[in-house]
Amino acid sequence: MDEREIIDKLRQMRDEDQSYTDGKILSSVSTKPLDVAIEAYKIFSDTNALDIHVFKNVERLEKEIIEWFGKLLKNKKTAGYITTGGTEANIVALWVAKKLYPGRRKILVPQSAHYSIQRAADLLDLRIEYLPLDRNFKVDISELENRIDKDTLAVVATAGTSALGVVDPIGEINKLCRNIFFHVDAAFGGFVIPFLNNKLRLDFTLENIDSITIDPHKMGLAPIPSGAILFRDESYLNELKTSPDYLPFQTFTLSGSRSGGSIAATWATINYLGMDGYRKIVEKCMENTEFLCNELKKIKVDIVVEPELNVMGIRPQNMENVWKALRDMGWDILMDTQSKSLRIVVMPHVTEKIIREFVRDLGEVI
Ligand SMILES: Cc1ncc(COP(=O)(O)O)c(C=O)c1O
Repeated sequence: MDEREIIDKLRQMRDEDQSYTDGKILSSVSTKPLDVAIEAYKIFSDTNALDIHVFKNVERLEKEIIEWFGKLLKNKKTAGYITTGGTEANIVALWVAKKLYPGRRKILVPQSAHYSIQRAADLLDLRIEYLPLDRNFKVDISELENRIDKDTLAVVATAGTSALGVVDPIGEINKLCRNIFFHVDAAFGGFVIPFLNNKLRLDFTLENIDSITIDPHKMGLAPIPSGAILFRDESYLNELKTSPDYLPFQTFTLSGSRSGGSIAATWATINYLGMDGYRKIVEKCMENTEFLCNELKKIKVDIVVEPELNVMGIRPQNMENVWKALRDMGWDILMDTQSKSLRIVVMPHVTEKIIREFVRDLGEVI
């Protein structure tokens, strides 16, 4: 195949799938990346973040991203790296936890946690105890308190659950985690909570938080793949350091080769938007979420819990049939079997116009 044929073929294949700008994608936690990020990716697409002896500037860009997260999380000492996403970041967090508390095996995890935590436990031979949720789908804090014992290695909380965008009571959990590793999976909420003007808190001033997962490729708007694992300080990364025989330096990442393109694109996105840019995007997404809630109430569709972030679950009557009909109309929407609801993520591409169209179609289907 020549170059033209290849590009035409790929263009045609891409056009057959949905695009974010079509706007019928209600299930995705990612969105269309910025042009400047795509350009940045191209410039660094041939670089490998593992090879810091060759690509010193990739290392520098990554360092600046981590410093930016340090400001976001109110801790200058924040240390970490850019992963392939939330899954890798969660695995790395629990890997460090295991290194820090070698004699212990139990991890306490809310039932609503992302499945990557279960993957991590499996890989690291840890024993998960799932914690029940209260009626707001947050972890039952008294149950958590009761279950902490001397075998407890780590507690995991989620700041923005995959199904409903619920934020576990991070402040209260923080108080219970003295001498236990405390990891917060804020893969989704990490780029939302710091920009909300309310009482939700997510930063290292909560003194027992050891690590936080935040994904630039979700509400950070960076292209996939880009996740981040962030630790309170450098000492956590030291737990993972290894000196491969063939490399002239130590490395601490789980993956070997890593895309310098992803790092450049993430750097471009955070510098282009800045804190103010993110604040405006989050405000708009929250405004649209509230608009969607109000429109749904008008057609008497139940909302599982009042959304705290720009994610929500809805429970129309005859849910499975409604779901199928909506999908037939081209709406990309997913059903969550645990909360028994249809999940909507109000990403920046889900505009007020799209919401009106969706509610109109939902009303018709019902
Ligand atoms: C709360 C949470 N954690 C972790 C992940 C995993 O992220 P990734 O798909 O980037 O590995 C997700 C994905 O949606 C998530 O919602």
